[in-house]
Parts: sequence; structure tokens; C-alpha cells
Amino acid sequence: MIKLNVQSAINEQIKKEEYSSRLYLAMAIWCEVNGYPGASKFLYEHADEERMHMMKLVHFVNERGGKAQLMNIEEPTHDFESLLDVFEKVMEHEEYITESINNLYEVAITEKDYTTMNFLQWYITEQLEEENLFNTILDKIKLVGADKAGMFHIDKELDGMALAPAPAE
Ligand code: FEO
Repeated sequence: MIKLNVQSAINEQIKKEEYSSRLYLAMAIWCEVNGYPGASKFLYEHADEERMHMMKLVHFVNERGGKAQLMNIEEPTHDFESLLDVFEKVMEHEEYITESINNLYEVAITEKDYTTMNFLQWYITEQLEEENLFNTILDKIKLVGADKAGMFHIDKELDGMALAPAPAE
């Protein structure tokens, strides 16, 4: 049976993953209406991936005899200055999520909850991969600066960046 404070901490993380999904959805919409179809497709997919992150946590809590709980979430930012602004905000957000996963792991350590610690390893690895991925994208966007042809190529590249399929539960 999952301890109540571990459950509460995971429920907070569920809220953050749900927010991440909505934030990336808002970004995908902005990209779609501002002439970045590749970035838009990439971010729509990423919004789905965040929902998967949320669902893994929901199932984990329920399967351990607890009860996942959804919370109110604030409206995400809708307006961005540029593609660079979008991906800088993605990076900022992912760093926040990494910190949040680390804090959640600390709760599991304090409670000697080895099952949760083991489960969270997947998220720790995922955060590392995501930060690397977004760093690479950010570097490319910074490199082309205001060059329209370069930006067109980056958008094409984002279109082709298929995300890894969601792992089986
Ligand atoms: Fe759920 Fe992008 O971290």
C-alpha cells in the first residue's frame, strides 16, 4: 500500500505532467498558426507524450492501492515571441520538471519506498533524454538566428523527428 505522503507527492507530479501536456499543446497551436508546421507536429506529439507520463503515474498510484487525484491546473501561456522563445520556454519547463522529479525521488528515499524509487528511475532517465533533445534543438535555433532559410530547415527537421513510441505499461 502506498503511503499517503508519497501518494500526495505523486498526485502533484500528475498535475505537473498534465500541465506540461497543455503547455506543449498551446505551443503546438501557436506554431501551427505562425507558419511552423514541423515544430507544431513535433509539439503536438510531445503533448501526447506528456499525457502518457501523467497516465503512467495515475496507474502506478492506483495499482499500489492508492487513488490518483486530478487537480485544478492553471491556463498555459498562449503567446510567444518566436520559435526561439517557444523552445527556451520548453527548456525552462523541462528543467523545472527534472527538479520536481528529483524532489519526488527524495520523498520516496525518506519513506524508504523502494518500489516508488525503482519506478521513478524511468522518469529520471526520461528527463535526461528530454533535456538533451531540447538543448540540441535550442542550439540549432540559436545558430540560424534570424535567417529565414535556416529556420525553414529547422522546421522541416522537427517535422521528421519522430518520437519514440510510448513504452508498454
Ligand atoms: Fe514529462 Fe517532458 O517531462
